[in-house]
Amino acid sequence: MSKNIVVISSSFRRNGNSQTLLNHFAKGLEENHHQITKIELSKLDLKFCLGCLTCQTKHQCVLSDDMNSLYQVIKNADILVFATPIYYYAVSGQLKTFLDRLNPLYGTKCKFKEVYLLATCADDNPKALDGAIKDISGWIECFEGVTLKKVLYGTGVTDIGDIENKSILHEAYTVAKEIL
Ligand SMILES: Cc1cc2nc3c(=O)[nH]c(=O)nc-3n(C[C@H](O)[C@H](O)[C@H](O)COP(=O)(O)O)c2cc1C
Repeated sequence: MSKNIVVISSSFRRNGNSQTLLNHFAKGLEENHHQITKIELSKLDLKFCLGCLTCQTKHQCVLSDDMNSLYQVIKNADILVFATPIYYYAVSGQLKTFLDRLNPLYGTKCKFKEVYLLATCADDNPKALDGAIKDISGWIECFEGVTLKKVLYGTGVTDIGDIENKSILHEAYTVAKEIL
């Protein structure tokens, strides 16, 4: 059955490694005829969370920017896919800001139950993703019944194009094709 899948790319680098990894994942999803919504953080007006916590009671953000139209999109997704470059052994600041801004959804009934994390980094060691996995897991734990389904490790890639000859691209496509 076709699923509603939201894929979020967070690198501001055009044609960067994490975007390429996500493109291959999305190709697998598209071939399975899922409903896909692509969100590119570099194209959004995305402000930092003010920390006012108004959203905890109103379930609405006091800020006015592109996030306003995205809350329903995220809420109604079956699956969320986050792609991030590793910055200082953590998720990118852009992705962290996006996760923080999803706080109006905290404590509400969300449809999504599965999250995929796609990350790229210069380091060859898969442990380089540990910080990002912890970051995403911390967010996931705040949403009931949600699990981190799979992590795709785009290690050993620094410059644009470095990921092109890596087997992880085919793995991303294959993993996505298994989502039915
Ligand atoms: C600010 C910054 C911090 C980075 N920190 C790390 C790091 O801690 N570990 C690492 O292996 N690579 C680090 N990198 C390299 C990127 O993770 C790597 O180039 C990645 O493939 C970029 O993905 P992108 O092309 O999608 O932006 C850093 C890059 C930048 C710009």
